[in-house]
Amino acid sequence: MGTRPLLVTGRGFAHRSGLLSAVENHLVSAGLKPVIFERVEPDPAVSTVEAAAELGRTNHCDLVIGIGGGSAMDAAKAAAVLLTNPSPLDRYFGSEKPHHPPAPVVCIPTTAGTASEVTQYAVIIDPQTQTKKTLASESIIPRLALLNPQWTVSLPADLTAATGMDAFSHALEAFLSTAGNGLSDAFCLQSLEMIIQALPAVLTDLQNLDLRRRMLLASTLAGLALNSAGTIINHGMAYTLTIRYGTGHGLANALLLPYTIAYIADDYPEKIARLCQLLGCEDVEVGLLNFNSRLNIPTGLTEAGLDQGDISLLADACVANCQRALPRIKRKMTVKDYAEILRRAF
Ligand SMILES: [Fe+2]
Repeated sequence: MGTRPLLVTGRGFAHRSGLLSAVENHLVSAGLKPVIFERVEPDPAVSTVEAAAELGRTNHCDLVIGIGGGSAMDAAKAAAVLLTNPSPLDRYFGSEKPHHPPAPVVCIPTTAGTASEVTQYAVIIDPQTQTKKTLASESIIPRLALLNPQWTVSLPADLTAATGMDAFSHALEAFLSTAGNGLSDAFCLQSLEMIIQALPAVLTDLQNLDLRRRMLLASTLAGLALNSAGTIINHGMAYTLTIRYGTGHGLANALLLPYTIAYIADDYPEKIARLCQLLGCEDVEVGLLNFNSRLNIPTGLTEAGLDQGDISLLADACVANCQRALPRIKRKMTVKDYAEILRRAF
């Protein structure tokens, strides 16, 4: 795939855990000289990706290895675009914009949730508009995803729950997406079933490799479904919480999910019945709230410390953030619909 790898990772975990040096040693023993960029922050900014790419270009890197959670992997995928295409990065936001094939990417996830290791998306913060921008291209799907549950066991319980619910949201939103198909549905159902069984269990047994393995696989399966089906409005609405309050991506999705899904549930009677069967509930909102409770996730936005006075401001932001998802649901959404979902969620 290349001879000069650029390793892109966050500010500590890969280093502390020994993963970074393990990868480095493997590459050196294969005769490759890696260049290391370990400054990716949570929700990476355009400037971080530009800095990683600059380091890679200066050192003639021709391969990118992303190590970490979604932020590190997304930054790696976006940097791979800039190794073969001219800066600035913002000209590649949107769908299939890179002109030249990006450098090949290898990903090693250290959380079970984002599934960036198999998706065509890199989400980067645009500081000018303070919005999350998506670079979507099949050409940035990693050539190789190395799934080793060993690297996820040190994730604490709260982050395990939050990232696990990101995977759950991917699986459920892709399952309901009108862009889905029989194949993505199969991946989603398998993923949902595995998460419902494994996620509450792993929280009381964080070192359990078999449960960690099931969560990692469930996350990746959901990611494979995402490439064809995409997410629906829950992810778009969750972005607004992250941007306004800094709520973590997985937690923001988990907090809203019972309310967004209940709001549109009537459009998907058979699929919602299947979900209720998996959750062991009669009512989908109650079932999803109970599942959150089992993961120690607050059941409302007030409990999560958010301000009810912000509803109209948040609803306006939802209109912009959910725009891309609207073709994938069965109804039209207005600012009033978003406000109503938020009102119920508080
Ligand atoms: Fe996500």
